Amino acid sequence: MSYRRGALIVLEGVDRAGKTTQCMKLVQALQQSGRPAEMIRFPDRTTKIGQLISAYLEKKHNLEDHTVHLLFSANRWELEPMIRQKLEQGISLVVDRYAFSGVAFTSAKPGFSLEWCMSPDVGLPRPDLVLFLELNPAVAAQRGEFGAERYETSEFQKAVMQRFQQLMKDPSLNWQVIDAAKSIEDVHAEIKTHSEEAAEAAQHQPIAELWKRE
Ligand SMILES: Nc1ncnc2c1ncn2[C@@H]1O[C@H](COP(=O)(O)OP(=O)(O)OP(=O)(O)O)[C@@H](O)[C@H]1O
Ligand SMILES: [Mg+2]
Repeated sequence: MSYRRGALIVLEGVDRAGKTTQCMKLVQALQQSGRPAEMIRFPDRTTKIGQLISAYLEKKHNLEDHTVHLLFSANRWELEPMIRQKLEQGISLVVDRYAFSGVAFTSAKPGFSLEWCMSPDVGLPRPDLVLFLELNPAVAAQRGEFGAERYETSEFQKAVMQRFQQLMKDPSLNWQVIDAAKSIEDVHAEIKTHSEEAAEAAQHQPIAELWKRE
């Protein structure tokens, strides 16, 4: 088979776990080992929908909770054609948060089921690897700037963590839990190993769809 697509690698985790730091290092490492790679992040605050989300997160205005959830999902769908195209061109994508954050955050609010929260993201490109950066909230809080944006309270973060645990039970996804309390370099080494393995395995496989029963 000559078909070689890029891998879709997602980094998830609680606030301050080191997702952005590790995404940037992973993209560099993949590029250095000869794999074309790019980073994307959600929410993508540069689009029109992203600007609505950004103003909401910065508490500049309020939005109804279902509406916010659907905007976050729409923000992923608006990039879906680009994601698919890049993967098919052989470019691996390292993604800073994806549908899992979307579901974990909304379903941590009262009155939202996991199922309802998952449905708008069903059918998005399924990641080949989801790295979950696990960090105790007390350690996360020591990493500074906690509490500036919406959702950044430790009680809410605890509820979010429980929802992530539920999502991690899904056997259709390749979840890897990483101890994010280790040094930046140690965390990076672990992430790199998992990512190279996943990229090798993914390159001859079609892009699958997230949370879709086959
Ligand atoms: N392994 C680590 N050990 C110590 N400090 C770290 C580690 N990884 C990241 N940091 C520091 O913690 C802070 C948060 O890191 P980063 O912004 O990468 O986290 P994040 O998960 O992207 O956070 P957010 O959820 O707010 O986007 C930064 O100041 C970063 O330098
Ligand atoms: Mg970040």
